[in-house]
Amino acid sequence: MADHKDLLDILRQTDGYLSGEELSRQLGVTRAAVWKKIEQLRQEGYEIDSVTRRGYRLTGIPDSISEAEVRANLSGKGTFGCHIVSLPSVDSTNEEAKRQGDAGAPHGSVFVADEQTGGKGRLGRRWVSAPGSGLWFSILLRPDVLPSEITGITLLSAVAVCRGIHALTGCDARIKWPNDVVIGTKKVCGILTELSAEMEHVHYLIPGIGINTNNGAFPPELSDRATSLKIETGQDVRRAVLLGKILEEFEDLYNRYGVSSFPEEYCSLCVSLGRPVSLTRGGRKLTGIAAGIAPDGALLVQTQEGEKIAVTSGEVVVQGFYGENCNGNYF
Ligand code: BTN
Repeated sequence: MADHKDLLDILRQTDGYLSGEELSRQLGVTRAAVWKKIEQLRQEGYEIDSVTRRGYRLTGIPDSISEAEVRANLSGKGTFGCHIVSLPSVDSTNEEAKRQGDAGAPHGSVFVADEQTGGKGRLGRRWVSAPGSGLWFSILLRPDVLPSEITGITLLSAVAVCRGIHALTGCDARIKWPNDVVIGTKKVCGILTELSAEMEHVHYLIPGIGINTNNGAFPPELSDRATSLKIETGQDVRRAVLLGKILEEFEDLYNRYGVSSFPEEYCSLCVSLGRPVSLTRGGRKLTGIAAGIAPDGALLVQTQEGEKIAVTSGEVVVQGFYGENCNGNYF
């Protein structure tokens, strides 16, 4: 039995008007049923123009992250998005991915939510995820590698986000090592990658991505370090379209680099390189220049003392940027 999503698919594929009679013929339902489905779509926020003797035409699509809307914006190539779980509200899309990962959800599953009530940032921080304000999603990956071989995935994810943002908005999104996505000097996206593994086997890997899309403004204590796509472009972003673009880029990069390496493009997008940085190591405060990225994703720092050290985690402050003590969205 055709439902209102089938009607939506037909309207999407049609440029002009379609009569109620034609729609009832294509869907195999009565004209009264067509009218009911039109009303249901309108209630979901779709704008549908109706003109006597011409019929119906889709004129506006809401900023919905429903499964139907996400699916309509996938390029249809493949694995990423084979299984889409869209939720109005969840504790954290990473937690949902873990629950479903433990229950056997397939490689390439995507978990997206309008709101996260327990959104998680790096280093145990909170990630504020109010309804409608951002794109909060996680991808479940099942690579056949050892736990030590996953060092490229967060870097690769950041490149996919930059490409997706640029394709949709034209914004020059770049990366602050290791995987904050920034526009100018402000954070627009954070990535938290989680892992379930044994010594010799990765069960699954979950890059969780949070993008500030439609926040109109941030409170004063955050406005110098956090931004959103709406603040940058002056326009609302349709999150399902952005998600589709990022998944397309993600799949392309994943198929080429897997989880153990990352694209060279990372280095040209990374704003940390060539800048003065400071960090604390073994209780010592060090300063130097971010000189490169090692094959395992570590930041190579040329210190003032003349050493070249590899930094894999911890506090690195890049001159001119917000410090690591900010996750770009929490209050
Ligand atoms: C950071 O601290 O910069 C990382 C933030 C990661 C937030 C995303 S939103 C989707 C996914 N679910 C979570 O709970 N966290 C990640």
